[in-house]
Amino acid sequence: MSIETLSDQELAVSTQDSFIEQANIKDQAFFQKASQNRLEFWEDRANELSWQTQWDQVLNWQRPYAQWFINGKLNACENCVDIHLKDKKNKIAIRWEGEDGSISEITYQELYDRVNQLAFHLKSTFNVKKGDRVTIYMPMILDLAIAVLACARIGAIHSVIFGGFSSQSISDRIVDSESSLVITADGGYRRGATLPLHQTVHEALKSVQHHCKTLVFRHLNNDISSSWNDDRDTDYEPLRSQNWEPVNPEPMDSEDILFILYTSGTTGKPKGIIHTTGGYMTHAKYSTRAVFDLKDNDIYWCTADVGWITGHTYLIYGPLANGATILMYEGAPDFPDKGRFWKIIQDHKVTILYTAPTAIRAFMKWGVDYPKGYDLSTLRLLGTVGEPINPEAWDWYFKHIGGENCPIVDTWWQTETGGIMICNLPSLAPSKPGRAGHALPGIQADILSPEGQNVETGGGLLSLTEPWPSMLRGIWGDPKRFEDVYWSRFDTYFAGDGATIDNEGYIKVLGRVDDVLNVAGHRIGTMEVESAIVDFEGVAEAAVVGIHDDIKGQAIQAFVILKEEMKETETLESDIKAFVANSIGPIARPKHIVFTPELPKTRSGKIMRRILKQLAHHEPIGDTTTLANPEIVTQIQSKISNTSK
Ligand code: PRX
Repeated sequence: MSIETLSDQELAVSTQDSFIEQANIKDQAFFQKASQNRLEFWEDRANELSWQTQWDQVLNWQRPYAQWFINGKLNACENCVDIHLKDKKNKIAIRWEGEDGSISEITYQELYDRVNQLAFHLKSTFNVKKGDRVTIYMPMILDLAIAVLACARIGAIHSVIFGGFSSQSISDRIVDSESSLVITADGGYRRGATLPLHQTVHEALKSVQHHCKTLVFRHLNNDISSSWNDDRDTDYEPLRSQNWEPVNPEPMDSEDILFILYTSGTTGKPKGIIHTTGGYMTHAKYSTRAVFDLKDNDIYWCTADVGWITGHTYLIYGPLANGATILMYEGAPDFPDKGRFWKIIQDHKVTILYTAPTAIRAFMKWGVDYPKGYDLSTLRLLGTVGEPINPEAWDWYFKHIGGENCPIVDTWWQTETGGIMICNLPSLAPSKPGRAGHALPGIQADILSPEGQNVETGGGLLSLTEPWPSMLRGIWGDPKRFEDVYWSRFDTYFAGDGATIDNEGYIKVLGRVDDVLNVAGHRIGTMEVESAIVDFEGVAEAAVVGIHDDIKGQAIQAFVILKEEMKETETLESDIKAFVANSIGPIARPKHIVFTPELPKTRSGKIMRRILKQLAHHEPIGDTTTLANPEIVTQIQSKISNTSK
């Protein structure tokens, strides 16, 4: 029988006794404490951090504005680095592998030195002060982690941008955050090619009006003289040999901003999600230890890029706050061949692997011979994040990567939640493939009907119904948008996802119910892609929808109306695709484009995306009587069936 057809009860997979016996969280009392006295529970978690000044109130909740650990003072960098110098200074903090196979590693002592050295130069050379915004656009190298921590040390607010974003996306973010400095590198490696990061920043800064300097790390050691500007750029290499002194970790109020991270929404440009210091760090430290069962001798590998929230919380802040040894890899999973991930696990004796369902589905397609060729026996826990995992992929991961010996944690959360919210703790309950499971202790997640009633079992909309420490504190520069997007649907936080809950309380997250796409675990707004397409000369209007994709979960299909004078040429489709990839980044490239004279619209002029989605999936179209132009549906239908023949 296929795993896809099993009932909820039949689906349950018990956790291995050997795992339960050694787990960090073994007893339900932990859950009970959290539900009986939530604030005391969170206070205990906050106490796992090192504070410079104790808080005097746990929570001030003026919906939708939360303040946690009020008047407490701490520093995130101190909690990730300094606190380990006493008993872990010679422990490897980060082991890095480059795509060409080169390896370097730094101990906690070395991490302390390098972070302080950079923090010193940020202050002395660039005069960066507490509260200033610093944009980081770097490849996945040690200096990226060091840059993040150095900002945190001096109280600068970092805004990390994924290395795959285009110059336009970078300049939008630099302008919105009014960053005074961009930390970047001469380039990075990807699938045997190089990424011209400095060149991209150079292009981006052409459309930034305010004064913005750059600090450039040398990674490729290539010639970047054509994009170099002496008035603007500083090479970090000569600074490395200059004198420096340790920098005191800036005392940050618990509610001082630690970082901004841009993510896509349903309207307009990406929004800068704000996270503050005390609450975010409390949840990062606690959830890493609880969910990944992190121990002192683990080699922990999170494959996410630091440019996404997963990289922030579960590659840098959470594991380092716990004093872990982290693996960081710069490069593609299929370079030089499709066994690269498994070779890395074998070579570094990785014990915990956290990756995305999209990657797992690609590995499945490539076949079991790749993982079979390597020793994966050091693995003891597997995780997934970013999108729903189909039970078939779960089963493959369990059998062929975990050797039926590793529990899988399917973790649901968002940029906005700061850390994992829903995830079955395998030491406390069996796992159910495809179901993220229960909310973590301390988190309250409910499924609500469209009217806001609690759904005991069945489907509805996912809401987090109690405030939690790592919740977003707002959208940078746009408090109204914050209130509208998350707090106007219900009284409680609306996540934008649909979900079901079964009679044992397991939550299965189905995906977005709004106009946000999830392509290979990356969040992209339909409006963002549409406005990029419309910027292409000759395009009058565009609408995009998400379509099912076996590997990426979702892919982008665009419907495009051309201007009268524009002719449909042979290369037009690929030109528009390339244009979108160029203006946002390759992750936003549409898979298919359908040219149409009109889009199906209601009489009030609203595009009927439901119908576009059905058309894209070749599904029967329901009622079209509410359309102003029902005849367009059959026209598009025949166009799609002609092109797919
Ligand atoms: O739709 C959900 C999906 O990813 C969205 C959040 O995207 P982002 O802010 O980029 O953060 C991704 C990494 C935390 C959610 O609204 N999502 C994330 N994890 C899961 C998921 N959908 C189903 N199951 C998950 N485990």
